[in-house]
Amino acid sequence: MLLAGHVNAICPMASKIITARTTRNDTYHQAYPQSTDKRTASVSFDAASQYVSTMGVHAFVPPGLGDFRGPCPGLNAMANHGYIPHNGIATINEFIQGTYEVFGMGRDLALFLGVYGVVMDGDVLSLSFSIGKGGNSILGLLPQNGLTGSHNNYEGDVSPTRGDLFEYDNNHELQISQFLQLYNLQSNVSDPSQVNYDIDLLTSFRLSRFQQSIEKNPYFFNGPISGVLVQPAAYQFIFRFMANKSEEYPEGRLSRDVLKSFFSITGLEHNLVYTPGQERIPDNWYKRAIGDEYAITSLFLETTTHALAHPEFLSVGGNTGHVNTFTGVDFANLTGGVFSASTLLEGNNLGCFVLQAAVMVLPTGVAGLLEGVLDELAEVVNPLLQAWDCPELTQMDVSLLERFPGYSRYPGNGILASLNSIP
Ligand code: HEM
Repeated sequence: MLLAGHVNAICPMASKIITARTTRNDTYHQAYPQSTDKRTASVSFDAASQYVSTMGVHAFVPPGLGDFRGPCPGLNAMANHGYIPHNGIATINEFIQGTYEVFGMGRDLALFLGVYGVVMDGDVLSLSFSIGKGGNSILGLLPQNGLTGSHNNYEGDVSPTRGDLFEYDNNHELQISQFLQLYNLQSNVSDPSQVNYDIDLLTSFRLSRFQQSIEKNPYFFNGPISGVLVQPAAYQFIFRFMANKSEEYPEGRLSRDVLKSFFSITGLEHNLVYTPGQERIPDNWYKRAIGDEYAITSLFLETTTHALAHPEFLSVGGNTGHVNTFTGVDFANLTGGVFSASTLLEGNNLGCFVLQAAVMVLPTGVAGLLEGVLDELAEVVNPLLQAWDCPELTQMDVSLLERFPGYSRYPGNGILASLNSIP
């Protein structure tokens, strides 16, 4: 099956938008001089504007019967504190507003994640999706996957704390062994004020989780979107969003207690307990500085830097039914020769590939509310593709993925794709 590209189709204005070309490494190092630095010249701290309330209407309320919680601890915490609806079903605008208010996520990134969630796993009529299990949409007309049912199109293997679907028969709850693996990466730090689950630590954690999926999950599959884009985001978001910002650490420091709170873990050392769905924003916690939002470019630049150091992260493919049989597909074949394993790492090509591969699944020629958000998304995506001087991806041969049982059992069809297949 070929997926055809239509990036230009969703924004006829694209050719009129010209933006300055960016240079990856310069931009990256200006934005992120050293993830472990206490103080950097570029990021300031202002307690009043960065404080995130956990009081009054934002007091913690655990989920009750009929409330949805799922694989994303950030969204679960937002629902538990009323920054998105407590039932766990929110609209794109509510996701944009909530992720900014609580974490300082860039509007463009939240829009991208939100639109993708609606189209693949949510309800295109009310522009909303469930952060947990699917079921009927708000309007009750169409079924939806929800994030828990999004295996291989959004949710994927090699998550930090969530287990691989085929290893645990559960992809949305935290596996305590995986959490402990992460938690113990700072066990050699005796002074609690020095503990920091920073980006370097999370990247080595990701490396070992990647290897574990190869060694333990016969159906491990690393998909073009769920593996190449969402997987790094899941690791990077842990530090970039959960770390507590302060005068001393304007880019944040992620302590044991803050990590536990955001991952719904209670109890003392050696007796940690996980309660599903009770992720909490810690009291006295401060988000990213205003003006220092983590945006699409931040995510792609950081992801590319890690892929340059560890190119295996970009291997689209999987195990072939037995552990330790990981086989990658040829990127050139997958992308009709537009990208190869080596050109993917050049310039902004990784961002070029992922953005185009993701928008390729979005529908064209739709009317109504969805048309409005697709136009808005095009205004975000097209200038980036232009600025990065992207080679045009016109098709993807996803039939190459069918040999991987982890994919063929769950081809990651979105709602619209599955509806199209109904005669
Ligand atoms: C609209 C915005 C968002 C959407 C649609 C979204 C969606 C998702 C999805 C589908 C996953 C599962 C990925 C996987 O298989 O590993 C995930 C995981 C994750 N998300 Fe989000 N997310 C959003 C915002 C956030 C925010 C603001 C945070 C802030 C902390 C966050 C933190 C995480 C983390 C840490 C994981 C990995 C969980 C684990 O396995 O340990 N996300 N998210």
